[in-house]
Amino acid sequence: MPPTVDTAHAQLVVVSNRLPIAYQIAADGEKVASLSPGGLVAALGPALAGTGATWVGWDGTVDGSEEPLDVEGFRIEPVSLTAELIKGHYEGFSNGTLWPLFHNVGVPARFSAPWWGSYERANEAFAERVAKVSPEGAVVFVQDYHLMLVPALLRNRRPDLTIGYFHHIPFPDPDTMAALDQRAMVLQGLLGADIVGFQRQRDVEAFHKNTASMGVQVPGDHKVQVAAYPISIDTAGVSQAAQALKVQARASDLRKEWGNPSRVFLGVDRLDYTKGIPERLQAFEELLASGAASSEDTVFVQAGSPSRETVEQYQALSAEIDEIVTRVNAKYPSGQERGAIVYLRENLPREEMLALFVAADVMVVTSLADGMNLVAKEFVACRSDDSGVLVLSTEAGAAETMSEALLVNPFNKTEIVEALEASLVLAPEDVARRMAALRQEVSTNDVARWARAILADLETARAN
Ligand code: F6P
Repeated sequence: MPPTVDTAHAQLVVVSNRLPIAYQIAADGEKVASLSPGGLVAALGPALAGTGATWVGWDGTVDGSEEPLDVEGFRIEPVSLTAELIKGHYEGFSNGTLWPLFHNVGVPARFSAPWWGSYERANEAFAERVAKVSPEGAVVFVQDYHLMLVPALLRNRRPDLTIGYFHHIPFPDPDTMAALDQRAMVLQGLLGADIVGFQRQRDVEAFHKNTASMGVQVPGDHKVQVAAYPISIDTAGVSQAAQALKVQARASDLRKEWGNPSRVFLGVDRLDYTKGIPERLQAFEELLASGAASSEDTVFVQAGSPSRETVEQYQALSAEIDEIVTRVNAKYPSGQERGAIVYLRENLPREEMLALFVAADVMVVTSLADGMNLVAKEFVACRSDDSGVLVLSTEAGAAETMSEALLVNPFNKTEIVEALEASLVLAPEDVARRMAALRQEVSTNDVARWARAILADLETARAN
């Protein structure tokens, strides 16, 4: 029997492949978990604070413990995955098949029957755990493409639950989806939810086209609401953190370290082939070649956090970026200790990242495909004096609402070069007008609003 709950609002159970926790080894050698400040924690934290909400997920380790933990007000229920399941489910089907297929940027998706088997088994393990720990009548909020079978698996086990699913990445058209033999099962899995949320209206439409073309129906008699809920950031929190004296001082130190250039371009990404990092660095190379900017007084700072390093395509991307950085820095000496490109291939601490956002003049986001791109929003949140220019890919979900950015087609290198050049010569009043409008947008549509919208719809679905 599931535990019961007797509050006015349903208790919430969040489910994500990766738990929002990090382990540290304490002085006495004990492993201590703390909450890692990712987007979802910021999004759901305020709604969950003090509710004793549960979070089910994988802690990123092989054969980890399944012992529940209480971490900063959350009940954490870790799902243990074997090395074989991690390989087949996380590295294989999720990031070798689904990620390239759903982003569809020219990196071929790889298909393997054992990967699908692992994906099914991992989804079953997650559903099993959620079914076990969810109080009667709870709202369960499942996250992302790693867990698309969970809604239906869970509904079979626990029809009393209200189930939401949010898809953080793009959803492909039926033509692209046709490559996936298991597409009907994936769609059926999602239709087990009461609410299926996407980043953009175009993803909602793609989902409907897929169900229609496959003739996939909602199983049973429940209603499914499919809608766009564009995710955002904790705008006020980021803005406030960026104004801290320590961050501001670090930002001016960074500019000094780079030799006080007159212009700083910045890219901040997970090292992923969907982010268009080679494309933007090559565009910068062309900008230098054209003479519109010189490496002595212009620098491109690219921060890249290593990601999914065991997956082959990620290793290839990393090598490609290394090669471009080496070539550009050899070709365009800056006359200082830094290169024309300063490449920070590491997981930067939060404050350092904020200092980069404050130090930059132009943020360059050239994703080839991107569910939303929260980095663009974070940059804007950090510009409390309305300075700074955002160059933004039309293929990032963020472009739908950030129309005052300099929008570029990331597949057209000339357009990126032109946008970089335009960013250097924008009139100060134009810069301020654009940034003020962007800041207004991101302040209004923050992550609390996203969480309120989707959680309120889930609460309504539960009441009906
Ligand atoms: O954007 C999809 C996503 O899964 C995010 O939720 C996550 O922050 C990022 O990709 C990296 O995920 P991971 O390191 O777990 O592969």
